[in-house]
Amino acid sequence: MSKRPFYITTPIYYPSGNPHIGHCYTTVACDSIARYKRMQGYDVMFLTGTDEHGLKIEQKAAEQGVTPKEYVDVIVDRFKSLWKYMNISYDRYIRTTDDYHVEAVQKIFKALYDKGYIYKGEYSGKYCTPCESFWTDSQLDENGCCPECHRPVKYAKEEAYFFKMSPFAERIEKLLLETDYLRPKTRAVELVNNFIKPGLEDLCVSRTTFKWGVPVSFDDKHVVYVWIDALSNYITALGYENSAHNDYEKYWPADVHMVAKDIMRFHAIIWPAMLMALDLPLPKHLAVHGWITMAGKNGESEKMSKSLGNVVDPFVLGERYGQDSIRYHILREMALGADSLFSNEIMINRINSDLANGFGNLVSRTVAMVDKYFGGTIPSEREGDALDEEFRAVVTGLLPEVDKYIDETKLKQALEEIFKVVDRANKYIDETEPWKLGKDDTKKARLASVLYNLLEAIRVTSALLAPFMPTVMPKVWEQIGASAADVEYEKLGVFGVLPENVTVHKGEILFPRIDVDKEIEELNAILAKNMAEAQAKLSSEEKGEAAAEPEKIELKPEITIDDFAKVEIRVAKVTACEKVKKSDKLLCLQLDDGMGGRQVVSGIAQYYAPEDLIGKKIQLIANLKPVKLRGVDSNGMICAADTPDGVKVIFVDDSIPVGSKIR
Ligand code: MSP
Repeated sequence: MSKRPFYITTPIYYPSGNPHIGHCYTTVACDSIARYKRMQGYDVMFLTGTDEHGLKIEQKAAEQGVTPKEYVDVIVDRFKSLWKYMNISYDRYIRTTDDYHVEAVQKIFKALYDKGYIYKGEYSGKYCTPCESFWTDSQLDENGCCPECHRPVKYAKEEAYFFKMSPFAERIEKLLLETDYLRPKTRAVELVNNFIKPGLEDLCVSRTTFKWGVPVSFDDKHVVYVWIDALSNYITALGYENSAHNDYEKYWPADVHMVAKDIMRFHAIIWPAMLMALDLPLPKHLAVHGWITMAGKNGESEKMSKSLGNVVDPFVLGERYGQDSIRYHILREMALGADSLFSNEIMINRINSDLANGFGNLVSRTVAMVDKYFGGTIPSEREGDALDEEFRAVVTGLLPEVDKYIDETKLKQALEEIFKVVDRANKYIDETEPWKLGKDDTKKARLASVLYNLLEAIRVTSALLAPFMPTVMPKVWEQIGASAADVEYEKLGVFGVLPENVTVHKGEILFPRIDVDKEIEELNAILAKNMAEAQAKLSSEEKGEAAAEPEKIELKPEITIDDFAKVEIRVAKVTACEKVKKSDKLLCLQLDDGMGGRQVVSGIAQYYAPEDLIGKKIQLIANLKPVKLRGVDSNGMICAADTPDGVKVIFVDDSIPVGSKIR
């Protein structure tokens, strides 16, 4: 009988900087599921890759004086070495610059055009350069910035092709609300309310402002916009519209696409719409996880990302604690859908408590006792106890639980179930007190039963942990005397698989205990050095940017001097300032405006602390209609500039009196 296929994918990563622990999460999670499914006997296709086109890559390559392809080649190698280092068992790696993918994307674009779903139009609107996304006014965040990266957007206009999404609105709404496609389902309502209910807008799917992309085959002024290029990878990698591969029929539709929340919308709405337009079956599940975050300024957590310079280098952690411990830690910390805060302290405590004290100790204690009391080989005489029945039931009951959580892509819960059994086994040692049995010659048969039962619990838990921690578990099998056949999937729901007279082999300590204080000090020093280097690099990149071609700035339509005269700009002084409650973006400023004073709310809390502003003079738009922001009255606006470093307030020289008119 041929094996059942199982197809799982990670997003394809932008090779625009070194990969970090944040990137590892999805890949390690998919790897663990892929390994588990292989263990269950599925014919698995695990796909990962890199998303190599777009303006950002074109710009970065130009800064370094290399071609975009030369630029991405170097970073793709770094991704591949990290995946090798982390023991990622992908079956296929797609690069969107691969010829077969380019050819297939051109065909997909043309097919959508021929079917009337893609048409030519003109786009004018708010554009976020880092995200390469146009946004409507209603989609912008409360500060009028990009809703995804919260950086300033700018007005832009260009001829473009559009993908008509509205014909699929109803089917997508049903897919999200009535099926098990989106996980966790709780996010479906937010998507439907934000994007579908207001009317699914047509999506801009080509660009004329840069060249580094897949050319539209019938209009080479345009390159295919990143999302049609990127999302198609899931089918082109299987051979859809190309002859490089030949397993589309076997593996499509995908069983699981796993992504983080920032790209949920593209996978929950745009990807199904594309597939519907192409008349292709829809993937079975989209599993959305949160971000690995780091503690940031003001105690708030921030996404781990290269641009924030707060990245944790997986090679550094792997060298210190072993790749399996890192894999375990990130999977164990993150619940599907929620963010998880990364800190060295949480990680080390987790490794110490679960792996060193919990699992590692169970294995070393058990093996040491078999060695000490029986010279390494368990004798045949046995004496059972009522307690054993309950213990066996706990061990044999584990498999269906873990199966269920793997199928639901809930890896944290799967690990929790396994560790409940590990904890139960450690408790069984305390209850049965084998060290006392060992001192009494009449209790040898009872001792043999206890130790055999413990070895069986280790056999089952280690086999179920192997997909998550593939390097260490085979060492456990060697120590407990389990053969490859003993840890096959079919044997994990039964008890009594190890040979009656099993022989153990004492081995190295699996998870050495870590000295928390010492390690934290050293790791923090490494992180601080990384952050300083990242900052230095960013500023030198900025210098490169300054020397590069000036950015094309799209201005708003002309106005007359009379139009301008309608705006009252006055000098005002900040007399008091505080954060707006429950908002991490807004500051509430009290101003001396020379007219009796007023209150203004401004979205600059991420860039200024209140004390940075008090006593400073600023430019005030004094005749702006009052609004309420987060329930707080705002009477006017203070002028600020959007810069690559974020928003900067335009301060006024102290010699200019409060109330002066600016013209
Ligand atoms: N190229 C697109 C995906 C196209 S898929 C058809 C992209 N690339 S990315 O490199 O920016 O991000 C890839 C994935 O890594 C995203 O799911 C992103 O959210 C995830 N992560 C990047 N940093 C992360 C954390 N700090 N934590 C968890 N995941 C993070 O988006």
